[in-house]
Amino acid sequence: MTTRDENELAVEGLRPELKRTHYCGEVSEGDVGKRVVVNGWVHKVRDLGGLVFVDLRDRSGIVQLAVDAQQMPGLAARCKQLRSEFVVSATGKVELRPQETRRDEGGASAIEVRLESLALLSKADVPPFVVQDDVKAKDELRLRYRYLDLRRPVMARRLTTRHLAMQETRRVLSDAGFIEVETPFLIRSTPEGARDYLVPSRIKPGNFYALPQSPQLLKQLLMVGGIDRYFQMARCFRDEDLRANRQPEFTQIDIEMSFGDESDIFDVAERVTCAVYKRVLGVEMNRPFLTMTFDEAMSQYGSDCPDLRYDLKLSDVTDRFRDSSFAPFAKAIEAGERVVGLCVPGGSDYSRRVIESLSAIVRPLGVFGLVWVKLGPDGVKSSMKGETTGSFTESLAQRMGAKQGDILLLGSGQKLKLLAAMGRLRQHIAREAKLIPEGRYVPLWVTEFPLFEKDEETGEIVPMHHPFSGILPEDEPLLETDPLRVRGRLYDLVVNDQEIASGSVRIFDPELQHRVLKTVGIGEEEARRRFGFFLDALRFGTPPHCGIAFGFDRMVMQLCGVNSISEVIAFPKTTAASCLMTGAPAAVDDSVLEELGLRLERGRDKEVDK
Ligand code: AMO
Repeated sequence: MTTRDENELAVEGLRPELKRTHYCGEVSEGDVGKRVVVNGWVHKVRDLGGLVFVDLRDRSGIVQLAVDAQQMPGLAARCKQLRSEFVVSATGKVELRPQETRRDEGGASAIEVRLESLALLSKADVPPFVVQDDVKAKDELRLRYRYLDLRRPVMARRLTTRHLAMQETRRVLSDAGFIEVETPFLIRSTPEGARDYLVPSRIKPGNFYALPQSPQLLKQLLMVGGIDRYFQMARCFRDEDLRANRQPEFTQIDIEMSFGDESDIFDVAERVTCAVYKRVLGVEMNRPFLTMTFDEAMSQYGSDCPDLRYDLKLSDVTDRFRDSSFAPFAKAIEAGERVVGLCVPGGSDYSRRVIESLSAIVRPLGVFGLVWVKLGPDGVKSSMKGETTGSFTESLAQRMGAKQGDILLLGSGQKLKLLAAMGRLRQHIAREAKLIPEGRYVPLWVTEFPLFEKDEETGEIVPMHHPFSGILPEDEPLLETDPLRVRGRLYDLVVNDQEIASGSVRIFDPELQHRVLKTVGIGEEEARRRFGFFLDALRFGTPPHCGIAFGFDRMVMQLCGVNSISEVIAFPKTTAASCLMTGAPAAVDDSVLEELGLRLERGRDKEVDK
């Protein structure tokens, strides 16, 4: 019979006395002298001969456990057997660390736990990457072993921020009389502009549910149903090209209210925004938020999400160049184009190479090249050379608010494209010149968006938002004659450079709804087929109503100061919309397809597993 070595580290069950009294990161100087129990994962073991240190980690942070090998040889021997990611329960007394050994690592750095006993609760294989805030592993590996990635305290902090923002939202909306209602996932398609995710029906083979791109029609039907004030932390599903701030499934703070208009939605959305930013970041935002029309935002900042943390406004100087001697611009204007400029303070020393690199930013966006005027210490210089007079450039500089030391950058092109390109240039220059202050959050309402836009690929008229948004009354007559000039009762909430929320006052008149649907090419028959249930409802006494949806994940990105949406989602998908951890999407057995009445096209079945 072999006797068990008393120093052997064997896995034990969780007895009551092994349950934690403190989270690792919460053991503090105030606990000195107390006996504590901490539970967590072994972060690191350091054997200094006489002393063995174990860094123990849980979601709150790391605490150092210390054991003196001479005083407690058995315990020290057990600690040396610990490996990264083993799960343990440790009991010991909190002590101040000797001054010279304190690391400057947050609140717990001044203390350590003098270990008295240790229980191994679970062993771990060697992890595929080192679990630490400053993770070195590639994104693919982090996503494949997301549960290990989530052990990094920074991830727990982000999920906690998300949680706080969610709780605060629920509190504010609930206090304002909004009730949280869940709407179904298995629905008919809602037109939000992306492709639907479809779910085949087994009971009705050949028929499909669509997962909601948003609960748009359902929340409007809740208004018809008299619910009056609704909200939901709504999951939305969109099969669209993914970017750093887009996921195929994401969360909205979805809001709808009856008998209200823009001012009511602005009020409630501002209250949510202020409360959340205050709760999470301690930032005070002044209310009411600034408001700007889409036209103003585009013409002054070249973006429908203008970042107001820095100035740098665009100027439309078309009138200056009409009939001017500078032929490239005069000709462009004759052809119906515009000339827009940006004055960059302190840019008069930009080299040719720098200006060329700036031209390279706008060129792919449809602006042929940048013309420049430098207001240097030795006079005005310009790439327009002999083609304009000195007094022309001087008056241009004056018009654009330039002073000595500045540079004017000018481009020509088709209005919206040109403005968007110059807006991109504005952002680039602000980033490069470090004009964007950290820690500032500037909210802004952008209103009166065009109701429709032209689809670049098909040339068709499509809704800018969705086809249920109302129209500015004075633009209603344009609906049939000049739809692209119709302005919608649409609004976006922008914080810094991010569209945080978007919504509209809705159409509640069935006739107007039909006219709008017709404008986007949805005739009576198609409308009946696709959302007859909704059009019917509009005829049973619909209150005037309006709403908004926050892109909750985008808001949390900003609150956490990260640039990628997947950093604030527990189990995100890749840009190819797959989950590397579970392997979704995945092929299914033929028998399952058969039951659903589906058959894969020959050859495509192989693609499924990629
Ligand atoms: P919209 O389509 O503008 O409006 O969406 C509202 C907000 O949701 C966020 N968002 C996304 N976030 C992450 N990943 C995505 N793929 C994604 N797509 C959109 C944005 C956006 O501002 N039903 C309407 C709202 C309404 O009219 O009330 C809607 O869904 O931050």
